[in-house]
Amino acid sequence: MKLYNLVTGTLASLTAAQTPAPYTDAKSGITFNTFQHSSGLFFGLALPANATGNTDLIATIGGKGSGWSGVSLGGGMLNELLILAWPNSQAIVSSFRKTANYASPAVATGTFTKSSIANGTYVNSTHWTYTFLCQKCIQTDGTTFQATDTAPSIGFALNSNAPSQKTNPASSVSKHTAQGQVVFDLSKARSEKFNTWRAYAAPNIARSFEG
Ligand code: HEM
Repeated sequence: MKLYNLVTGTLASLTAAQTPAPYTDAKSGITFNTFQHSSGLFFGLALPANATGNTDLIATIGGKGSGWSGVSLGGGMLNELLILAWPNSQAIVSSFRKTANYASPAVATGTFTKSSIANGTYVNSTHWTYTFLCQKCIQTDGTTFQATDTAPSIGFALNSNAPSQKTNPASSVSKHTAQGQVVFDLSKARSEKFNTWRAYAAPNIARSFEG
């Protein structure tokens, strides 16, 4: 990700910024409202212009080095829909997770699915990023933010160490070395271009590789 593309203009101001800000990925052309942590973790969210009844989102999650990055679509860790990702050589391994306990979260299954967006998924010399269409990822059971929320908190967590089985999307992970919650202004994530961007998603071609 070319960090200087962010509206803040410079890498230095971005690194200091904890408030999500619009960022356009140079490769995919998708604009996300993006949170950037000083560790290198980032999480960006894109949503359709019309919130009513929407269940889908496009997300980009990334980091630096070989460790894992995680987000909670519900804010906290427990009983929320979590997304976990890490690089494995030139590929990204990812999974949905959920847990009732403060321990390595198990893989979660449900109606939610993710389909990678190839032109926004890459590993380069400075960072890695995984971009995907997340369908039915806005749930109504309290495990995620709601479609009509305006400023929900999204959780993040990371550990700079790779998971023990980095080729296995169900690998356990060590506890995060940094975590927190960030308020996302969803109006900055909404775009009329959402339907164009969602068409970039592959129909789960990499599903066997994703948990
Ligand atoms: C062995 C693995 C893990 C353990 C033992 C663990 C443990 C904990 C604990 C004890 C807390 C409460 C805050 C603290 O005392 O640090 C917490 C918060 C949190 N964890 Fe985990 N966690 C693990 C993995 C994960 C993963 C994989 C994710 C995301 C995919 C995650 C996301 C979060 C979030 C979002 C919070 C809330 C942060 C906040 O409210 O400020 N955790 N975790």
